[in-house]
Amino acid sequence: MSQFGTEFCNELSIVRYADGAWQVPSIEPLAPIHMHPAAHVLHYASSCFEGFKAYRWKDGNARIFRLDDHVGRMRKSAASLRLPVPDADMLANMVKDLVAHHVRDIPEPPSSLYLRPTLIGTLQNIGAAAAPSTEATLFVLASPVGDYFEGGPHSLKLLVEDKRSRTTEQLGSTKTGGNYAAALAPTLEAKEKYGVDQVLFCPNGYVQETGAANFLLISDDEIITKPLDTSFLHGMTRDSILKLGAELGYKISEREFTVTELLERVSTYEATLSGTAACLSPVGTLIYNGEEITVRDGSTGANTARLQKALQDIQYGLAKDTHGWLTEVG
Ligand SMILES: Cc1ncc(COP(=O)(O)O)c(C=O)c1O
Repeated sequence: MSQFGTEFCNELSIVRYADGAWQVPSIEPLAPIHMHPAAHVLHYASSCFEGFKAYRWKDGNARIFRLDDHVGRMRKSAASLRLPVPDADMLANMVKDLVAHHVRDIPEPPSSLYLRPTLIGTLQNIGAAAAPSTEATLFVLASPVGDYFEGGPHSLKLLVEDKRSRTTEQLGSTKTGGNYAAALAPTLEAKEKYGVDQVLFCPNGYVQETGAANFLLISDDEIITKPLDTSFLHGMTRDSILKLGAELGYKISEREFTVTELLERVSTYEATLSGTAACLSPVGTLIYNGEEITVRDGSTGANTARLQKALQDIQYGLAKDTHGWLTEVG
């Protein structure tokens, strides 16, 4: 399968907002979107998006993972950017309709259909830096994706960055393009300078997240991760792992922890990133102040593998969905 995010189904679901109302969504052939060069999004970055997956089970039907929660997060993102907030049922139905159209294009697990609802401000006004976009377009893209770690997971190397931030405090939990733009240069600089995969942002010395994933420390009986606040993205994978972890008997410690504590803990704790694209991605090495610190023995830990399996078994239809996380589409 081609590289994650580069292959698309040949249709998208799309709807426009104008004159104070959402129009009727439709499924259309995938084609370039025409907009005025003065569109708000092109100048003032009024855009937000979501990312989640649908899996095709052996019965031929698809199951969308945590659809309503992703729709809820998208609505929060839209509200924080003062974009028209999509109606929850409308957006959920756009996703379900698109998945139903393309259920046969979904490869079998561990492959899946990645769904990318995107909302952009299309108001034609380059004088609207301090005004909301009262016109918008919402579309849902569908992209068949393979196993992120084909051939087995590879342990990541992270730069621990305790000076620069991933983004601003007020937009951290908004899934908006500007946050990724802010993290891009520090991440590329770190890749170039230290050969790392990602940067673990730790503003003021407190561990936060990387450019596109949450961060967890895991032992045989505890999961430690930062508590929810507005500074970082509230990942659905993080939330799912914490819920499953609690059921498996892990103590869930959602609390602030410092870089100093992180560096002490990794001699015994497993470290992992969490996110939709790769589920859990084990971290094998940290670089801090030019020094390389190995996480335990550098390999994937048993607890990370166990928690990942617990979540993926639900997604793939191998374990019961006792949380109501899956929406069936036939
Ligand atoms: C900044 C950031 N943090 C965390 C995550 C993980 O979120 P989720 O588990 O909902 O995919 C993502 C991925 O979407 C992200 O972009």
